Amino acid sequence: MQHSGLVQTVQVPQPCVMVIFGASGDLTKRMLIPSLYELYSAGLLPENFSVIGFARKEIPTAEFRDSMRLAIGQHCQEDFLKSGKVNNFLDNIEYFTGKYDDQESFHALGKRLMEIDAEKDTGGNRLFYMSVPYEAVAGIADNLGKCRLNKPVSDDSWTRVIFEKPFGNDLESAVSLNRQITRYFREEQVFRIDHYLGKETVQNILVTRFANGIFEPLWNRNYIDHVEITSSESIGIENRAGYYDHTGALRDMVQNHLLQLLSYIAMEPPAVFDAKALRDESLKVIQSLRPYEPSEVRSMVIRGQYTSSVIKGEVLPGYRQEEGVPPDSRTETFVALKTYIDNWRWGGVPFYIRTGKRMPTRVTEIVIHFKSTPYRLFTDVDDIAQSYNQLVIRIQPDEGILIKFAMKVPGTELKVKNVDMDFHYSDLGDVDLPSAYEKLLLDCMLGNSTLFIRNDQVVASWEFIQPVLDAWKNDSSIPLQGYPAGTWGPECADDLIAGKDFKWRYPCRNLEGEGEYCEL
Ligand SMILES: NC(=O)c1ccc[n+]([C@@H]2O[C@H](COP(=O)([O-])OP(=O)(O)OC[C@H]3O[C@@H](n4cnc5c(N)ncnc54)[C@H](OP(=O)(O)O)[C@@H]3O)[C@@H](O)[C@H]2O)c1
Repeated sequence: MQHSGLVQTVQVPQPCVMVIFGASGDLTKRMLIPSLYELYSAGLLPENFSVIGFARKEIPTAEFRDSMRLAIGQHCQEDFLKSGKVNNFLDNIEYFTGKYDDQESFHALGKRLMEIDAEKDTGGNRLFYMSVPYEAVAGIADNLGKCRLNKPVSDDSWTRVIFEKPFGNDLESAVSLNRQITRYFREEQVFRIDHYLGKETVQNILVTRFANGIFEPLWNRNYIDHVEITSSESIGIENRAGYYDHTGALRDMVQNHLLQLLSYIAMEPPAVFDAKALRDESLKVIQSLRPYEPSEVRSMVIRGQYTSSVIKGEVLPGYRQEEGVPPDSRTETFVALKTYIDNWRWGGVPFYIRTGKRMPTRVTEIVIHFKSTPYRLFTDVDDIAQSYNQLVIRIQPDEGILIKFAMKVPGTELKVKNVDMDFHYSDLGDVDLPSAYEKLLLDCMLGNSTLFIRNDQVVASWEFIQPVLDAWKNDSSIPLQGYPAGTWGPECADDLIAGKDFKWRYPCRNLEGEGEYCEL
């Protein structure tokens, strides 16, 4: 049985060849090659290791290596660049021009893999990485299968395949994609990446909860009033209108990353720390989310789209003015929702999720709001919401944990003030946090699927999301709220938490955009 990398000491994987489909693209140069280089530099890749970059564009290997050298320079941490191992690393990379829908290309790839096995003694171990847009994925999986590249070369070797999100565009397409994948690959060969799960601080949620005695007794409906999960970005859609306008914030962020975060916060302690037990518990949480009735979607899920605004005299474009976005687009760039987990631990505790683009800052954090004391003995705390303890888990940036609690202000008067006990990951010294992709690539090579998403988790999360997509599609009277770029989203998102002493936590007080809140 494979145990999680969370508690393992570092292990070096077996020799292998990694094939990146879509190697001419953005993810390869921004994330995959820089992460592989950092692993190599840290001595965490096997001695016999090779990368084949596969894509349609014709690029000579020398030119591909040059562009990867540039990418490493731009995206790797400085310490790794100093190690002077870039050229040796690049010697292990080659480029292969092929077509995703052409079996000949896959036969030729198979032949090259056999040659590398012979040249470099890579033992027949293969890792295929689908770094291509969603529409190309099923065809590649199909051709790998038809050319028998899906099967391990021998009883001692392994063949694994990594899929990038999106895992479908809705429930039906997710089920269909999985059917196509599992025609040729067994579930244990399939590694679905949700890079949030590779982040140190996300893994630390589990350690905070299950390695400390002080939190778990309070971690339930008796002591927790509500939970808030915010993931905001200050940037817009950059040049990704083609992708984003068909996706929107609900599919892009909530269906995957934020439901996974929620499951880590809410899951029961797994019986053992392995891939099956952990993912079983995560699945149970997602399956326990209360399904939305069509009539509830309007009030429980707020959607928004950023509009033009002015910050410090600078005009920011609205979503519909971004290049490539249709002027009448109804794609949401903001979602806030309220949900319940119908189980014994969480019955009646609202969970709030909020995510958006063009908000005042980039932050991902989880706020656990504890219930107040039964009686307010000290009445001089002005802000009632402040009399509740909060545990803030900051996922990014400035990773860490913050506890807010009340203290006496020094002096002769009995005055109470809320203070922060604030732990920053950076305080642990000059330990570089490995990037999520480093962690996940290494885990996959080691065969550890703990931090990857299983198919049943994908399906369960789409089952939760689908009624919202259906309601938005079928009921055009559900409003799309315009919010000025640079603000915390539609004002009516506050109403989700209304009726309580609370509002959303605002992680920063940056200057906000000035513009119009309106219904679009
Ligand atoms: N970039 C990111 O930060 C990021 C983050 C999270 C997830 N992802 C996911 O990772 C995957 C790769 O992302 P990416 O940003 O690298 O994508 P990309 O740059 O758009 O595409 C990667 C490569 O795929 C090929 N390609 C493009 N459109 C295609 C099509 N319609 N059919 C077949 N091949 C096509 C192109 O190579 P050739 O034309 O040369 O074959 C392209 O260079 C996607 O599934 C994306 O959703 C990316």
